[in-house]
Amino acid sequence: MRLPYSEPYKIKMVEQMYPSTRTDRETWIREAKYNLFNLKSEQVFIDLLTDSGTGAMSDRQWSALMLGDESYAGASSYYRLKKKIKDILGFDYFLPTHQGRAAENVLFSVLVKEGDLIPGNTHFDTTRGHIEFRKAKAVDCTIDEAFNTSLDHPFKGNVDIRKLEKVFQENPVEKIPFVIITLTCNSSGGQPVSMQNLKEIRRVAKKHGTLLFYDAARFAENAYFIKTREKEYRDKTIKEIVREMFSLADGMTMSSKKDAIVNMGGFIGFRDEKIFREATTFNIMFEGFITYGGMSGRDMNALAQGLDEGTEFNYLDSRIKQVAYLGERLKEFGIPVQEPFGGHAIFVDVKRFLVNVPLEQFPAQTLAVELYLEAGVRSAEIGILMADRDPITRENRFPEMEFLRLAIPRRVYTRNHMDLVAVAMKNISDRREKLTRGLRIVWEAPILRHFTVELEPVD
Ligand code: F0G
Repeated sequence: MRLPYSEPYKIKMVEQMYPSTRTDRETWIREAKYNLFNLKSEQVFIDLLTDSGTGAMSDRQWSALMLGDESYAGASSYYRLKKKIKDILGFDYFLPTHQGRAAENVLFSVLVKEGDLIPGNTHFDTTRGHIEFRKAKAVDCTIDEAFNTSLDHPFKGNVDIRKLEKVFQENPVEKIPFVIITLTCNSSGGQPVSMQNLKEIRRVAKKHGTLLFYDAARFAENAYFIKTREKEYRDKTIKEIVREMFSLADGMTMSSKKDAIVNMGGFIGFRDEKIFREATTFNIMFEGFITYGGMSGRDMNALAQGLDEGTEFNYLDSRIKQVAYLGERLKEFGIPVQEPFGGHAIFVDVKRFLVNVPLEQFPAQTLAVELYLEAGVRSAEIGILMADRDPITRENRFPEMEFLRLAIPRRVYTRNHMDLVAVAMKNISDRREKLTRGLRIVWEAPILRHFTVELEPVD
C-alpha cells in the first residue's frame, strides 16, 4: 500500500482555539455588520480568512529572531536577507518593505503614471487598487479556461498571449510600463502559471520593449505546480525551478507573509540598478532606510530562513496536499469548487452553489456568513464586493467568478480541522436551495470596500 502524505514537521507549541455556540455567533456577526473582517479572533473557531501572515514559524525561524540586528543602517540581518534573495531568486538589488502592498506602492510610484495600462493575469485587489489609485488601468489577460471552474487545465493562472498582444497592438508601448504576473494567481483560485507561459510573456514583453514584473507572493507554490505538472521540470528541484522562473523577470514585488512563512514583511527585487535607485527614494519616504525599509532586523532574519524553508519540496508537498484534501472532501459532498485545486486555498464556485441568491445580494458574502454561523469558520469573499465599483461609472462590477475562498494558513491546522470545515459546508449544501436572500450594503468605502463594508440581511 502506498504510504499517505504526512507533515514533515512536528508540533512544539500549541495555540488556544475558541469554540462558540450558534447563538453567540448570530449576535457577533450582527455586531460585525455581516463583515467577517470585523470579527474578533476569539469569535472565530477555524480561521480561513487568509493564508497571509498566519503561518506557523519554525524553531529555526524563532531562533533566527534572537540573532536579529536592529541597527538603523547596515544591519547584518539586512545582508543576510540580501544574500538569501540573491541565492534563491537571483536579484542583485532589493528593498525591504513592511508588506506586499507597500512594495507595490513603492514600485508603482516609480513606474505607473495616469493613463497607463498594466496587463497581467487577474491582478490581486491591492495591486489593482494601487494601479487605479494612480488613474491607470489593470488589464486582465487571463486565459478563458480559468473562468470555467469545472474545466480541467493544469495552469489556469496562464496569460492568453493573444489577449496580451492585443493590448500592445492597440496602445503605444509608452503607456505600458510593464506586465505584471501574479504567481500563483490568487484571484482566479490560487492557480499556477506554467514556465512555458512565463517564457512566452517574457518574449512578448521583450519584443515590445517593456518590463516584466512578478507579484510573487506564492512563487514557491507556483514552482511546485511546475514541477508536478510540466514534464520537463519533473526532475528539477524547487530551488532550480524558482531560479529559472525569476531569471525571466526584471523584478518582483513580494508579500513575504505567504510563501516565506513570516507574519509580516515584504520586499521588491530588481535587476536594473536605475529603477532600484529611483525606488530607493520612495522607499525611504514611505517605508524606511534602505537596509530595513519597514522591517525589524529580527523579522528580516526570520524571512531569510523562511525563504529557504518555503522552497523545500517536502514542505510544499504536504502543504499543497492538505489543501487538496479539503478540496476532495468538498467534492465528495457535491460542492462545486475551482479545479484543479489551487495552492493556498479552495475556492467554492458560489454561482453554481447558492443558485437562488441574486448576484446583486452578494452570494459569496452570504455564504461566508452562513459558514460562520454553521461552525465558526471564517472565510473570504472573492467576488462582487471585492471587485469594487467601476472607478468611472461607479456601478458595481460583476467579475466572472463569484468565489468563497477557504485559505489554509501554512503549518497551522490539522486534517481534523479540514474535516470539520468540509462537514460544515455539507450541512449548508443540504439546505442551499432554501437560501434565497442575501445581503445589502449599508456603508462602503470608495476603494477596497470589502475590508470595511457594512451590510445587513435582505428581508
Ligand atoms: N499580491 C497578492 C497575490 C496577494 O495575495 C496579496 C495579499 C498581496 C499582493 C498584498 O500583500 O497583504 O502583504 O500587503 N493577499 C492577502 C490575501 C491579503 O488574503 O490573499 P500584503
